[in-house]
Amino acid sequence: MDRAVVAYDGRPVLDGVSLRVDPAEVVAILGANGSGKSTLVKSALGLVPLAKGEVRLFGTPLRRFRSWHRLGYVPQRVGAGSGVPATVGEVVAEGRLARRGFLRFPSGADKRAVEEALTAVGLADRAREPVSVLSGGQQQRVLIARALAGAPELLVLDEPTAGVDAASQEAFAACLHHFVEQGGTVVFVAHELGPLRPLITRAVVVHHGEIIHDGAPPEPAGHHAEPGHDHVHPHASVEAPGLLGSA
Ligand SMILES: Nc1ncnc2c1ncn2[C@@H]1O[C@H](COP(=O)(O)OP(=O)(O)O)[C@@H](O)[C@H]1O
Ligand SMILES: [Mg+2]
Repeated sequence: MDRAVVAYDGRPVLDGVSLRVDPAEVVAILGANGSGKSTLVKSALGLVPLAKGEVRLFGTPLRRFRSWHRLGYVPQRVGAGSGVPATVGEVVAEGRLARRGFLRFPSGADKRAVEEALTAVGLADRAREPVSVLSGGQQQRVLIARALAGAPELLVLDEPTAGVDAASQEAFAACLHHFVEQGGTVVFVAHELGPLRPLITRAVVVHHGEIIHDGAPPEPAGHHAEPGHDHVHPHASVEAPGLLGSA
């Protein structure tokens, strides 16, 4: 994205953000609540309109972009109960829609992709269960599996580990590791890095709608960067323990 501005009701919440992500990068978007992380991600995917600036996906201006199967997106919150009882397998199968179109029955490849995605997040044995019986962390893994099922090149996740139990965080880290090993590119929003820390190649810190750091991952709380070593922008919010986690 290039000098992207997003305003809600005339109030700018993204203030001229430029960000380029290259293939095989694993980028963590960090920042306090309300800093504009979700807005950044949503505007990059065309889910929130830009007031100014430009977005290109895989080199194509957003308004002309049609290759949605190339990316998978996991939004911040599990949509509060739609009232439709869906099984784990059904939700993950939705991730194949961009690839197969709505009017075709699932092929063998579709079914295999769903199985593989569920295996990747450690839920292979739960496919026939209603999503509603799973824990919050497991439901989040279902959404990640749905994104993986489309075999995307780029995975965009908004707070995939927020409020998620330790087992689900570890399962997510393992699945991300696998995705990256196979050449995938990842952009994810996080409040705390936890087990994801070793996976990231780059950290972007958003503060009041601006990028205030873009580079080396911040040191865990309690550690100090060595002299001469790339260090985090010395802004108070960057050093807040809640932001950096204690892992
Ligand atoms: N749909 C919306 N309408 C009005 N204001 C919004 C909307 N979405 C987010 N905001 C505001 O924009 C700012 C950035 O929000 P958001 O991008 O969700 O931040 P983050 O994901 O970092 O917590 C916040 O002040 C939030 O209240
Ligand atoms: Mg958010």
